Amino acid sequence: MATDKAWGGRFSAELDAGAARFLESVSFDKRLADEDLRGSLAHAEMLGSIGVLSPEEVRALTEGLSALRDTVRAGDFPWDPAREDVHMNLEAALGPAGQRLHTGRSRNDQVATDLRLWARGACASVGALVDRLALALVDRAEGEIDTLLPAYTHVQRAQPNRLAHHLLAWVEMLERDRGRLDDCSRRLNECPLGSGAVCATTFPLDRERTARALGFLRPTRNSVDATADRDFLVELLAALAITATHLSRLAEELVWWSTQEFGFVELADAHATGSSMMPQKKNPDVAEVVRAKVGRVVGDLVALLVVLKGLPLGYNRDLQEDKAPCFDAVDTVSASLAVLADTITHLRFDRPRMRAALGHGFVTATEVADWLVTRGVAFREAHGVAGRLVALCLARGVELSGLPLDAWREVHPAFTEDVFRALDPEVAVERRDVFGGPARRRVLEALADARARLDARRGPTP
Ligand code: ARG
Repeated sequence: MATDKAWGGRFSAELDAGAARFLESVSFDKRLADEDLRGSLAHAEMLGSIGVLSPEEVRALTEGLSALRDTVRAGDFPWDPAREDVHMNLEAALGPAGQRLHTGRSRNDQVATDLRLWARGACASVGALVDRLALALVDRAEGEIDTLLPAYTHVQRAQPNRLAHHLLAWVEMLERDRGRLDDCSRRLNECPLGSGAVCATTFPLDRERTARALGFLRPTRNSVDATADRDFLVELLAALAITATHLSRLAEELVWWSTQEFGFVELADAHATGSSMMPQKKNPDVAEVVRAKVGRVVGDLVALLVVLKGLPLGYNRDLQEDKAPCFDAVDTVSASLAVLADTITHLRFDRPRMRAALGHGFVTATEVADWLVTRGVAFREAHGVAGRLVALCLARGVELSGLPLDAWREVHPAFTEDVFRALDPEVAVERRDVFGGPARRRVLEALADARARLDARRGPTP
């Protein structure tokens, strides 16, 4: 425990123990230790460069900070809640060398800097996991270029589709998720150091230098804003909430598709669970829990927004409550992405089952309407004709292919034998040969495109 009065000369009594327990943040903000040490290092070197610290003082600090980094990374740092937060813990651990480090700095610009560094790292690490899941989907799509299944709207069989085209729909969503993280990372990439507690500092700090040393594009423009706002964290959590929403939908699909009713996929044994009572069960618990996690992540976003709402300028201690939701959201989404990537990689697609599903539900009814349109019938009329044919089939208990040509002609005289070709799902899919559609060559192009984007982001393979 610290023995000195934490706040120096102004105070005549120690902080009440209960209040101290309530206010401490080191139990969770120690997660920012690495970022905090990097910020201190850059600050110390900059203070040396402008002559505020001597070369010896800078050397002592540099050595002390890197020793601390090793201790922290090894998990050996004795975090002391009496020292309130990660910043005071680390500064105290520097001993006498640390006494001058805080020149021209406040914990307000310090924590804002730590958080920006941390959020930048989180955008990169979650972004890489988003790409990993996208890559798993692209890999599987490549193997299913010739697998056909119904596409659904309203969970009703709608039109024939390629499984690869369906899987690439998820890849598109993940691509935008990745883009949102990149946008967030770009916008937050400014350095608050030098903003002080609220109105900067009297020392002639070289803010460009610290910004550059920490990989920021530039220093923040306004010291009040830099210490008071956390909108970059809101952006991060909003991006993660959208990602988690996408993941919940993908997970939902796995739950449905692995039912006996659908039977489109079988989860690998290693990614499914049994029942403690019913021996026959194989449950999609991983997908179910991913589906549920979105609740936490949206909750994290809302928690942060409510912390910020109505806060006056500049820094307020309320801002300490920004961290737990951020850590939780990043951890939750990271874990969901990783576990889904593995699940996708190892599941088995039941191709015959998908194909069989195309045999029922009149998935080529649109083709019938389109067939008439190409023979000069207006689409609205053609749509009505196809609908009457479906009704006729339902009454007779047959599929469209089972209805004799005479019956077709009774509904519309333009029909010829040729219409039966249009009922072939393969033909139907191939005729959807527009950019963004499921024709084979279009899907192959889309696959190559998606892979190229992912490869470009991963950089050259060593
Ligand atoms: N633990 C604090 C936070 O997370 C650090 C900044 C404290 N600043 C202050 N003036 N009390 O916001």
